[in-house]
Amino acid sequence: MLRLLFLGDIIGEPGRRAVVETVPRMKKELGIDFVVVNGENAAAGRGITARISIDLLRAGVAVITTGDHIWDQKEVVSYIQTEPRLLRPINYPPGTPGKGSIVLETAKGKVAVINVQGRTFMQPSLENPFRITEEEVRFLRSETHVIFVDIHAETTSEKIALGRFLDGKVSVVAGTHTHVQTADEQIFPGGTAFICDVGMCGPTESVLGREIQPIIQRFTTCMPVNFPVAKGQVCLHGILVDIDPNTGRASAIRRIAEPASIEVHPLYGIGKEFRDEAPVAT
Ligand SMILES: [Fe+2]
Ligand SMILES: [Fe+2]
Repeated sequence: MLRLLFLGDIIGEPGRRAVVETVPRMKKELGIDFVVVNGENAAAGRGITARISIDLLRAGVAVITTGDHIWDQKEVVSYIQTEPRLLRPINYPPGTPGKGSIVLETAKGKVAVINVQGRTFMQPSLENPFRITEEEVRFLRSETHVIFVDIHAETTSEKIALGRFLDGKVSVVAGTHTHVQTADEQIFPGGTAFICDVGMCGPTESVLGREIQPIIQRFTTCMPVNFPVAKGQVCLHGILVDIDPNTGRASAIRRIAEPASIEVHPLYGIGKEFRDEAPVAT
């Protein structure tokens, strides 16, 4: 049995501090073999940097997925070409920097990860996620049947449809992007574990990880406002999935919603240059 942990969108400094602090302990305590996180909001809520990626990988994360915020930090355009464990959605047009999938060797066999973005209510509108993922899965299955898919999308219908479409062909289809965990985790008849959205790793007293008042002000006045990342207690949201490494079938899926300590271990230092005190223009 291979145990996979997936944590949803990491929000700014509070989110990444909590992940870096908690992942090594969780791996040990829960016997986790492979960790995937979505890092699209890790740099002050917008995108990800080289330094932050390195911190996450050093803490025991195997693969970092992203989504519509992937290009928010300009340095990522060159960095992603040097770090194959940092993925961007696979359905960008041919020639886009970086890759949308990876296969990694583990002690329990090869694990493949695909990152794909939905199209309904999403910008930019990318290539058809169903067709591109189907093609990639067909290719990857010659190497491994253990395939994890992060579907970064807004609507439950698009995510469920993709999960059903891939049932029996991949081990997990897990949603990200809404930052709100859904309670629909299940294993489909073909053996694919599914959840519409795993939720975020960010401050609880917030609106999707941002300070509450500016978001309310935006909705009430319709005027442009800065949306700083919120502070305070962080909750880690994600899933734990048990997978048969030979068949790729999932045997269990469990939701994680764990309040996190944000004391940082000195071995996993956090880059100070991306602290989130400064408000971020949106
Ligand atoms: Fe996000
Ligand atoms: Fe997103």
